[in-house]
Amino acid sequence: MESFVHLRKGKTPKRVHADLDGLKDDELGRGGFVGRTANMYRRNDPTAYRTVGPLRPTDVLSSELKPADASDAQGGPLLMFSNADSQVLLSRRSEAMPFFARYVDGDLLLFVHKGSGLLETEFGPLRYRDGDWVYIPKACTFRQVPDTENTWLMIQATDDFRVPPAGTLGRHFPFDPAQVTIPEPSPIDDDGRDEYEVRLYHEGGPTSLFYQHHPLDVEGWRGDNFPFTFNIEDYTVITSESVHLPPTVHLFMQATGVYVMNFLPKPAESVPGTERTPWYHRNVDYDEIAFFHAGSLYGIPMPPGLISHAPQGVHHGAPEKARERARRKFDEYDRVDWSVIAIDTRRRLTPSAEILANDLGQHQK
Ligand SMILES: [Fe+2]
Repeated sequence: MESFVHLRKGKTPKRVHADLDGLKDDELGRGGFVGRTANMYRRNDPTAYRTVGPLRPTDVLSSELKPADASDAQGGPLLMFSNADSQVLLSRRSEAMPFFARYVDGDLLLFVHKGSGLLETEFGPLRYRDGDWVYIPKACTFRQVPDTENTWLMIQATDDFRVPPAGTLGRHFPFDPAQVTIPEPSPIDDDGRDEYEVRLYHEGGPTSLFYQHHPLDVEGWRGDNFPFTFNIEDYTVITSESVHLPPTVHLFMQATGVYVMNFLPKPAESVPGTERTPWYHRNVDYDEIAFFHAGSLYGIPMPPGLISHAPQGVHHGAPEKARERARRKFDEYDRVDWSVIAIDTRRRLTPSAEILANDLGQHQK
């Protein structure tokens, strides 16, 4: 239950996230963006710091990372970030899996950043393409057959991904589950080989099971636990003319301690004085990962495949220069064309050695 008390002290603009008059808009809020909160109006850019110690934002170009599956068909994805609730991995496979995969520690949610292909699953085949989310239930067996080199952002939860509870917008917005693509059963015949490897990915693994028959041999299925794809083109973006809405309105799927959001092209806020750039914050209760899929920030191209990690409690936000430019160009742009995938986690994420080795080091200068 929220309090009626909402104080206003000192110099504050009348509207939230607007009419800053040179002040820096900084939020100290609980529970992501839905709990008790304070908007603080500062003199200086709160992201202008250098860090000493392990807690710092990292920025990595995923094209610089070398997942084993990029150069070896037998290889697997690269672990980028992990905590007790989740793992965030990168895959860049260009050759068909010579084995079958099964992630036995939790549900998988994959974002197809680049490329297309076929996913053979126990439930039947699923085609995928750029901008698809692919959901694979925990311990479901599948095989990836890419058309060309693929780049996947992979999120593994330790329990099941679910549609967020219906809020004030109802059950079908911004994500309408009726728009998912669900596979039809299509059992695959044995091809004459001696054994079929099903590789189990798990903590302390992998483990391989060898069958003498094709593991994707399901003639039919029923129930409510199945893989699907959903393209971000079908996501219904929520917007407002007079305020930049908090990221929580773009929630797509969630598991315990893991929240996945889509920030997609939309009309820009149009009421003069409205800040179009997300305000500074230190997301007190959540680590944040942003994956830049495509687009630009009011004409400034964003590097596709850039991954940013902001630990909870550490300030982050677009640079002041970008904010000034967005204000200056207010009348030139009436749309935002960014496509960013965001992952928020309740527990702290640990970046892997590969992430730390490839950090662009923007906060260590
Ligand atoms: Fe953030």
